Amino acid sequence: MNAPTAAFAPEHDSTHPDTTAMATQTTLLNPRFYTTDFDEMDAIDVTPVRADWDKLIAQMKSDPNKGHFKKTADWDQIDWDGMEPGLRAEFIDFLVSSCTAEFSGCVLYKEMKRRGNNPDICELFSYMSRDEARHAGFINDALREAGIAVNLGFLTKAKKYTYFRPKFIYYATYLSEKIGYARYITIFRHLEAHPEHRFHPIFKWFREWCNDEFSHGEAFALLMRTDPRLTSGVNVWWIKFFLTAVYSTMWVRDHARPEFHKALGVDIAWYDQEVFRKTSAIARQIFPIEIDIDHPRWIPTLERLERAFVDMDAARQRGGIGGAVGRIVAGARAGLAFAGLYTIPARRNTPPASVRLEPSY
Ligand SMILES: [Fe+2]
Ligand SMILES: [Fe+2]
Repeated sequence: MNAPTAAFAPEHDSTHPDTTAMATQTTLLNPRFYTTDFDEMDAIDVTPVRADWDKLIAQMKSDPNKGHFKKTADWDQIDWDGMEPGLRAEFIDFLVSSCTAEFSGCVLYKEMKRRGNNPDICELFSYMSRDEARHAGFINDALREAGIAVNLGFLTKAKKYTYFRPKFIYYATYLSEKIGYARYITIFRHLEAHPEHRFHPIFKWFREWCNDEFSHGEAFALLMRTDPRLTSGVNVWWIKFFLTAVYSTMWVRDHARPEFHKALGVDIAWYDQEVFRKTSAIARQIFPIEIDIDHPRWIPTLERLERAFVDMDAARQRGGIGGAVGRIVAGARAGLAFAGLYTIPARRNTPPASVRLEPSY
């Protein structure tokens, strides 16, 4: 029998939160677990991109980060109990949400490998699930030091799975891999310049780590290149939808962690715009449009969206009829703000003939 970890854990309080429960929650903003039509994905023929494909697979097979996700002498001891409580809570939230996102990739990729028969697809997904398992495990080691590791086995069974058609998996996963790369490398470069803000050793591991995410994104770019319909016609509207959703979710989520970013010495709006800029530049390899993040409506509308989410949360905590009404009103404001972001005219690009890129930040 698999009992929830909560049954085994001595107690949960503000210093020892139930991280498995945090990771299991399904909200609009939490990382999700996905399932898809595995047979359709298994039928992909990579012949049109064979030369680039073989090169990428050979690189993944060589496993450049094989020894990277291990603690070394660079792993400084952290005084978790001495950490300022606001920072501690937000940092734990950051680690749990990152671990869930990494593990979500691991579960999806492993399932694809398990269900598939196509040797190209199975090989790709076995390397990617290997990497994501390491990433999730490494973050969980950091949580374990604080006595609050996420029970990943339990999460696999208890978490709700969201079904996405394969093309939506490509858009969402491609973007989350590339934005993951941009997030990790931007923090890494910032802390390289300002080591006094590196309050936890895990950030030292981000450079090699983000190269894994970069290659995973490359694989999805190649998969999308096998079928030009995926990046043309009505699908351009879907691409715009996913770009808007992924960027705005990141904005709202990051703004909910002011203490964490203050400790890193990072201005959240600057950081988010920087990550959007890098992600958009990379995504020119495959997407025919990009979001105009310098448009005069972009930041003010993101700020409106964020305020609506803060109010929605406050209404939820208030409860009762007043809380329910408050949630509906704030939800409508969030919907309007999202529509406002979606209707900002996109910039058009012509993706290059050769899709492959190397990490350059
Ligand atoms: Fe990862
Ligand atoms: Fe990844």
